[in-house]
Amino acid sequence: MKNLYDKVAVITGAGSGIGRALAKAMAAEGCHLALVDMNDAGLQETKAQVADKSRKVTTHIANVTDRERMKALAAEIHQAHGAIHLLFNNAGITISKAFEDSSLEELDRVLAINLGGVINGCYFFLPYLKQAGEGHIINTSSMAGFIGFPNQLTYSASKAAVKSLSETLFAELAMHNISVTSIHPGAIRTNIMKAAVDHGSDAVEMQKMEAMVMKMGMEPDALARKVIKAIKKDKMRIRVGFDAYLMEWIKRLFPVAIHKPFRKAFTKRALGK
Ligand SMILES: NC(=O)c1ccc[n+]([C@@H]2O[C@H](COP(=O)([O-])OP(=O)(O)OC[C@H]3O[C@@H](n4cnc5c(N)ncnc54)[C@H](O)[C@@H]3O)[C@@H](O)[C@H]2O)c1
Repeated sequence: MKNLYDKVAVITGAGSGIGRALAKAMAAEGCHLALVDMNDAGLQETKAQVADKSRKVTTHIANVTDRERMKALAAEIHQAHGAIHLLFNNAGITISKAFEDSSLEELDRVLAINLGGVINGCYFFLPYLKQAGEGHIINTSSMAGFIGFPNQLTYSASKAAVKSLSETLFAELAMHNISVTSIHPGAIRTNIMKAAVDHGSDAVEMQKMEAMVMKMGMEPDALARKVIKAIKKDKMRIRVGFDAYLMEWIKRLFPVAIHKPFRKAFTKRALGK
């Protein structure tokens, strides 16, 4: 989609981090925005940051795992805006824990949001994208979509699945003039590590990871600029950040050997506890 001006974009997870940055970048392109999140305070903050009388901005509280709500949401947004051209399936969480320390509920939660939420978004918004005659779906995966990281079992699995389903939809939806892009960021400076503590990850561990991300990671606004370029150039996928490129290339060149240092480090830490 070359021209984003006057288009209507739906963004899930718009109340924080990458979703908020995408909202600002899309607003700068002249898009109308439907901002979706579970967190109303976050949504209102994003709305305030994109406030401009020439654009229509609506906020919608929704849990992307709730199918009934997602179905109603698509209709609600279409009614409010008259059309829907772009869908950013971005809402996501992580829980950093070894598989054997995780409860089934924790494993399910990550899959339900990161994978189920993307499927729900694609499923319920597709009829409206088709109706618009031109559409683009942008799914937020991760560099974890390329590699199974220790302590990130369902996170890595969900992001690999999002990569895969994006490839399928890229092929299947072209006949409807709908394109699909998966985003594979490395470390981005957002609230995801803080949220991971609320979801059951170890607080001290998350503080260390957050400090590293804040030092080495990329600003979400820089990511959002790359996403806009990718939409305009109709890229099927983009890697964002040096770490994402590095991980994907190492995996490509050493598909098995890359996992050996992970195994060694994980075993050493676990036994050293
Ligand atoms: N931050 C990173 O380093 C990084 C790297 C790669 C990929 N990602 C992905 O980027 C996406 C956005 O994450 P972020 O880093 O901006 O995190 P964030 O925690 O700053 O923002 C996530 C937003 O999603 C919302 N959300 C969570 N669960 C939801 C649900 N069930 N329904 C609706 N909204 C929900 C939260 O309320 C929050 O506003 C996620 O899919 C994440 O996996 C992040």
